[in-house]
Amino acid sequence: MMSEVEAPRFIGEPAPPSSRDGLSPRDFGRLAVIIESHTGIRMPPTKRTMVEGRLRRRLRTLGLPDLNAYCRHVLDGGGLDGELVNLIDAVTTNKTDFFREIDHFRYLMGTAIPALSRLPHHPGRDRPLKIWSAACSTGAEPYTVAMLLLEQARAGMPIRHEIVATDICTEALATARMGIYPADMAGMVPEPFASRYLMRSRDPEDATVRLVPPVRQSVRFGRLNMMDPAYPVSTDMDVIFFRNILIYFDKATQKKVLEKLCGHLRPGGCLFIGHSETITNMDLPLKQAGSAIFIRS
Ligand SMILES: C[S@@+](CC[C@H](N)C(=O)[O-])C[C@H]1O[C@@H](n2cnc3c(N)ncnc32)[C@H](O)[C@@H]1O
Repeated sequence: MMSEVEAPRFIGEPAPPSSRDGLSPRDFGRLAVIIESHTGIRMPPTKRTMVEGRLRRRLRTLGLPDLNAYCRHVLDGGGLDGELVNLIDAVTTNKTDFFREIDHFRYLMGTAIPALSRLPHHPGRDRPLKIWSAACSTGAEPYTVAMLLLEQARAGMPIRHEIVATDICTEALATARMGIYPADMAGMVPEPFASRYLMRSRDPEDATVRLVPPVRQSVRFGRLNMMDPAYPVSTDMDVIFFRNILIYFDKATQKKVLEKLCGHLRPGGCLFIGHSETITNMDLPLKQAGSAIFIRS
């Protein structure tokens, strides 16, 4: 297999246009440093093709002919400040689903909330149960919690609650705020939730669904970068969902972020991570309570 190695250049000499209308290894490396330092998302060379594909969508909006022109604009032409949010939006992976990793929601409703309600200040009665979906993507995760709590209220056992949901990706947050989803995502919503909480369009051509207002109004969305030194959310969260994001970070970044998250979780509070993620040997104030479920000690 041939490897792409760039010829050495003089200081200040511009990068030659790539022969394959992609990113030269040097430009990709420079973009990777920017992305990693702002988001923590690892950008090994194996991600080059993915990044190229995503950034090509920016070319038309910016009126640029190719990725080389994009790099000259962003890397050498002072365009980074104006483009950073879009660059980050372009490289984040926003895959999510309603009721994803459903065991976690069973644990939340059947074990975590009953246990939390026995703690001092009775969250859910004397004060709201505080739930944070960190890295919420387009909102399926916090809205799943909202539907479960609305259902609990319908059953005559209301739980006072506040759901905060954050992500770095502005496009994902815009979708989350609208609460409109393609039909394939709606297919992940089981009954009776689908018929109670999803509205279908009257237009038979329109396959999207929209969440009903009580669900949309249950969640407060905001942009938050987990790399920020401090998080402007409560420090006594009862439940934090931080799922399917650790995999994008290196070990040191994972530990730093998890330490900060622990500072926002009350003792006895519950942290969910993704089922394919692990936090072993990190010396955190957490006790494992189930598969990808941890309790703050
Ligand atoms: C794969 S999605 C996971 C969504 C949801 N938690 C789930 O499990 O279905 C990962 C999310 O992490 C977000 N993300 C990546 N880096 C981030 C950062 N530094 N700060 C906040 N969010 C970030 C991405 O924008 C993306 O929406």
